[in-house]
Amino acid sequence: MLKDIQEQILKLKKEKDVCILAHCYQSHDILEIADYTGDSFGLAQKAAASENKNIMMCGVRFMAETVKILSPEKRVYLPKSDAGCPMAEQLDVDILRQLKEKYEGYSVCAYINTTAELKTLCDVCVTSSSAVKIISRMDNDKILFIPDCNLGDYIAKQLPDKEIKLVSGGCPTHAKITAQEAKKAMEKHPGAKLLVHPECQPSVAALADFIGSTTEIMDYAKKSDAKEFIIGTENSIVQHLGIECPDKLFYPLSKDCVCHNMKLTTIADVLHCLQGTDGEEIILDEDMRIKAKVCIDEMLRLGK
Ligand code: 13P
Ligand code: SF4
Repeated sequence: MLKDIQEQILKLKKEKDVCILAHCYQSHDILEIADYTGDSFGLAQKAAASENKNIMMCGVRFMAETVKILSPEKRVYLPKSDAGCPMAEQLDVDILRQLKEKYEGYSVCAYINTTAELKTLCDVCVTSSSAVKIISRMDNDKILFIPDCNLGDYIAKQLPDKEIKLVSGGCPTHAKITAQEAKKAMEKHPGAKLLVHPECQPSVAALADFIGSTTEIMDYAKKSDAKEFIIGTENSIVQHLGIECPDKLFYPLSKDCVCHNMKLTTIADVLHCLQGTDGEEIILDEDMRIKAKVCIDEMLRLGK
């Protein structure tokens, strides 16, 4: 059954000239049929480089918007229209305008997990894997970082020469992991390396052997000589690593670290979207798209 669906998808995407991009938090059966899988930065780079006429983004809405912003001539689809990122909605343009007035002279740096509308007011975007490099290359040392204060705290610690102002916001999936849970997992698996995403609280990050994006965590685990790992990010990464590295053991830091939005898209939704019976084509106001593109272009330029 699964194989049948996957084969239909592979056939249809070829016939319809669709490139399928999938974030690492998607289920393994979706990663298997994707043309590219990776973290938010890798997905943005692939979106900018794809030569297909159509792109399907298996992930959440801001990722599909990023593709459309970069490739307005392409038809961009989100297979499940209610797959959003709660963090992307945490600030609205009015609050950001007020913050910009308060922090006059600061460059506004947005985590890519923001709406296209919010991006129109930002100077540069970053992702978890590119943030330190990009901000270190910015001319302005005064940065207003929105909206994830955990990622912002991680960046500020890496770049003590920058004056980084944070606002209160973050990923509900990662932020709920506690240092107590991390310590318990470390006691249970004393030989395991602790790998965490920078969206986790600083007290959790402080215990980690490695802090990185989804792709960086997976690469670290694959290359490491260690045999056991506690994974402090969305639990699909535990599943993918278990399949890709059968000689190693992977434990979730918290069984609750599940992003329900990332889990909304199923392999059947991907097929239905290709068949034209479900999913949403992303349409953006052209003026907003042009303004939002400025900070994404700056991310791709500084993040090279
Ligand atoms: P990265 O894949 O860039 O690490 O981002 C994680 C995330 O939460 C995306 O929504
Ligand atoms: Fe948003 Fe967090 Fe889910 Fe990523 S894991 S999509 S940041 S809610």
